[in-house]
Amino acid sequence: MQQAKRRILVTSALPYANGSIHLGHLLEHIQTDIWVRFQRLRGHQCYSVCADDAHGTPVMLKAQELGITPEEMVANTRDEHDKDLRDFLVNYDNYYVTHSPENKAYCELIYNRLNDAGYISKKTINQLFDPEKQMFLPDRFVKGDCPSCGAEDQNGDSCDVCGATYSPTEVKNPRSVVSGATPILKDSEHFFFDLPKFEGMLKAWIRSGAIQNEMANKLEEWFEQGLQQWDISRDAPYFGFEIPNAPGKFFYVWVDAPVGYMASFKHFCDKNGLDDTEFWDAGSDTELYHFIGKDITYFHCLFWPAMLEGAGMRKPTGVNIHGFVTVNGAKMSKSRGTFIKASTYLEHLNPEYLRYYFASKLNDSVADIDLNFEDFVQKVNSDLVGKVVNIASRCAGFISKRFDGTLSDNIENPALLNEFQAAADGIAESIENRLYNKAVRDIMALADKANQYIDAQAPWVTIKDENKQVFTHDVCSLGIHLFRILMVYLKPIVPNLAAQSEAFLNDEFSWSSISDVKTGHKINKFKALMQRVDGDKVAAMVDASKENLQKTPEPKIALSGPLADDPISETITFEDFAKIDLRIAKIVKAEAVEKADKLLRLELDIGGETRQVFAGIKSAYTPEQLEGKLTVMVANLAPRKMRFGLSEGMVLAAGPGGSDLFVLQPDDGAQPGMRVK
Ligand code: MSP
Ligand code: ZN
Repeated sequence: MQQAKRRILVTSALPYANGSIHLGHLLEHIQTDIWVRFQRLRGHQCYSVCADDAHGTPVMLKAQELGITPEEMVANTRDEHDKDLRDFLVNYDNYYVTHSPENKAYCELIYNRLNDAGYISKKTINQLFDPEKQMFLPDRFVKGDCPSCGAEDQNGDSCDVCGATYSPTEVKNPRSVVSGATPILKDSEHFFFDLPKFEGMLKAWIRSGAIQNEMANKLEEWFEQGLQQWDISRDAPYFGFEIPNAPGKFFYVWVDAPVGYMASFKHFCDKNGLDDTEFWDAGSDTELYHFIGKDITYFHCLFWPAMLEGAGMRKPTGVNIHGFVTVNGAKMSKSRGTFIKASTYLEHLNPEYLRYYFASKLNDSVADIDLNFEDFVQKVNSDLVGKVVNIASRCAGFISKRFDGTLSDNIENPALLNEFQAAADGIAESIENRLYNKAVRDIMALADKANQYIDAQAPWVTIKDENKQVFTHDVCSLGIHLFRILMVYLKPIVPNLAAQSEAFLNDEFSWSSISDVKTGHKINKFKALMQRVDGDKVAAMVDASKENLQKTPEPKIALSGPLADDPISETITFEDFAKIDLRIAKIVKAEAVEKADKLLRLELDIGGETRQVFAGIKSAYTPEQLEGKLTVMVANLAPRKMRFGLSEGMVLAAGPGGSDLFVLQPDDGAQPGMRVK
């Protein structure tokens, strides 16, 4: 059936700019890309855009760690992501980055409209602040003891031991993951978006067919818990866009991330002389679909449509939500080698294997998708190579050797051909509704029929019979026609295989060409279209993905001396070492501490700042021996509250103890505050 030409814009979630593309991301990009290619094959106008999600605290800190600017980091990652995706045959019209002028402009436009319409308010809130780094701490950058069960070293918002969830201000003995300092509470004014005002609209929208029912049900639960004002601002230092007329206040990354869809599309339209705005007008007759994972539903199905509506714009036609990739039944794991990066996969395997495998499993539910390697090898080999490509390889040889590379003028079995063509609407409906698994099942059932037909006619037997030459020609030609129809159906899933088939058949595949069977058509010589998956390569890929996080060399065993009693500790990375901030300190004052027979209280000058340290060196030094000396201190050790006061660091000394303690002294010339590295 011929449909009117649709105008569609499709997006995938924007990968964060602080990590590589992995198989989990690829599920989404492959799901999106198949859908987009399908729409184009059907003759619709379908644009697709994506981008890197550049902003936020993790990106900012990662760049600091690497010693580069966030802009530099983001530019490098964008190139890497773009390449990985293209290598997987995922072809966005534009792969952009949210740190862009288009995005800034659209964020400001939307924010100003929301503000003018009265949806933005301000409130002062009290939050944990890292006094050393001089920054507010997002929940995941606070660690400490669980307020519920007391387990140590738990996250700022939840406990892995007892499962409790809490606010980071409730954590006992909290520390900043960034600096190790004890966070303090600090006030700051934040900007809030009035999400509850949109409850009625959102309830209607999620039931309008825009999202899967199972997710709509989940959202109902969130409505029951009550929608809250959404905190959309963050304080400097923050890598993001400054809020208009609010110096030092930045848009929270989740504000500018979905706006990044608009910005990427605008960037594309500007380059191509197109107008993007008609896609965003309220009442636009264009369609807009977002493909996302279930973890980011809240942002896409509540905040995002509310922002659009509040700014007087259209809402998404659909948000298509998928589950998570597991490998061999378990969460992807770095130590097991199942956290596989796109680039590692590509060093070992053909991207179309994965595209086909994911397609054979994807449907419209949010259930997780398991990549089972045995099943993967078996399915690709038996379906793509053993069934589909096999049809062509069984028929093509006779056509080129015996029949001058030309298909016959006759259709040997019109009913069979008709069955293949009649499947088109059903397969189209499945792909349209993201039931790729059903489409693949139907296509493979047809492939089985084609092979059964060839088996039954046995052209390799009839070719030897002089009276059956025409018949053999007809059978092999029909085999090729059937193969061609299957490849049209599979084109969105395995575009390279389809392109090679087009070259072989001297033809171009569009959906409408299914009904157009070219008898008497000249084809080219058949070359092997696809290799079987080699199980050893899968094993090699897993091996290459195993991160032996720190390989500690076997310690050499010393028989006597200090190393025998106290062997060298486990190897650390340079990054581990670099976390320790060692400084030259001048002991400006030293004194005994009442009721503490091992401790001396030291006042240390570290170049303008004075620290108090309690050191257990009284047995080896008198205060007078120490005063005026230079030494080395650990300057970024979390302060420790002691009975006698706060100890703000540690001085370095060697020796077993008692009178055998030797405080470290730098060489002449070192000045207080100099870093030791
Ligand atoms: N930056 C945000 C999205 C902003 S969209 C305006 C983000 N980035 S992400 O890199 O963490 O994830 C990008 C997408 O990949 C999300 O849709 C997420 O669900 C998906 N996946 C990440 N890991 C995944 C699996 N293991 N399996 C399937 N999808 C996964 O969230
Ligand atoms: Zn707990």
